Amino acid sequence: MSFNKKDLISVKDLSASDINYFIETAKEFKKISLKDIKKVPTLRGKTVVNIFYEPSTRTRSSFEIAQKRLSADSLSISIAQSSVTKGESLKDTILNLEAMKPDAFVLRHSESGAAHFVSKLTDASVINAGDGINEHPTQCLLDIMTVIEEKKDVGSLKVAIIGDIYHSRVARSDIYGFSKLGAEVYLYAPHSLLPRLIELKNVKIAKNMEEAVKGADVIIMLRIQKERASYYFIPSIEEYRNFFQLTPELLSKASKRVMVLHPGPVNRDVEIAGSIINGGRTHIFKQVENGVAVRMACLYILLGYLKNK
Ligand code: CP
Repeated sequence: MSFNKKDLISVKDLSASDINYFIETAKEFKKISLKDIKKVPTLRGKTVVNIFYEPSTRTRSSFEIAQKRLSADSLSISIAQSSVTKGESLKDTILNLEAMKPDAFVLRHSESGAAHFVSKLTDASVINAGDGINEHPTQCLLDIMTVIEEKKDVGSLKVAIIGDIYHSRVARSDIYGFSKLGAEVYLYAPHSLLPRLIELKNVKIAKNMEEAVKGADVIIMLRIQKERASYYFIPSIEEYRNFFQLTPELLSKASKRVMVLHPGPVNRDVEIAGSIINGGRTHIFKQVENGVAVRMACLYILLGYLKNK
């Protein structure tokens, strides 16, 4: 298996075999995080720039940890302390950083398409750490890895994705990823928060929560993205909670061995009952753990491609 691209921008552009390659590689890298000394020299001499125009806890810290575990030299640009505050554009910011010869950029940006735009400006690899409402490919890979660890094969699973799907780059990447691997994907959201175009063959819109969760093997819950004005798309949080919250009663209609995932941050008792988060069906911290391994794999694969070019 191999991956012949400089960048990781979207799951839409990946084949099923690309997805499996990233996950098989991540499984190997996960072993490093379980050792006493969590460091290998694999990316010694490589330089990675993390540039996050939007806040992040999980993605940014796991990329930074992944870089340290692989012995890469890395720096994280603080946007608030950078010349972006003086009006410097994304293009000029990247062209100036490019002049310092980094090997990779990890970019999070509020504009959909930002990672694709940056990839055309630089010879370095670009990893999309979330662009607007478009995609969040590494989150999808860690979600799939978490499911494969438990279920072995994604192909025959029913995967329900519930919540603010329209504004969710995680949902978009997960829809592509799970459906490419053959899962049946059910979406459920307030009508105003459903994506406009879903034309994938094994993706369905559920009529209600019961249809979405009934017999589900995996349930991915999403928060309302208030930073993207989602509150204007629903009458009130109370109304949303009444019709779209995953409760213990609804969860009992899913498969007995259902996995509940959430990309975080979680709004406890809004999209998901707090008792479910504390219960045995939830794999949220496993997702975060796998995030480090997936990001190590992505850096290794993309920088390996550059080296062999
Ligand atoms: N899942 C995720 O992207 O979380 P952060 O926004 O904290 O990075």
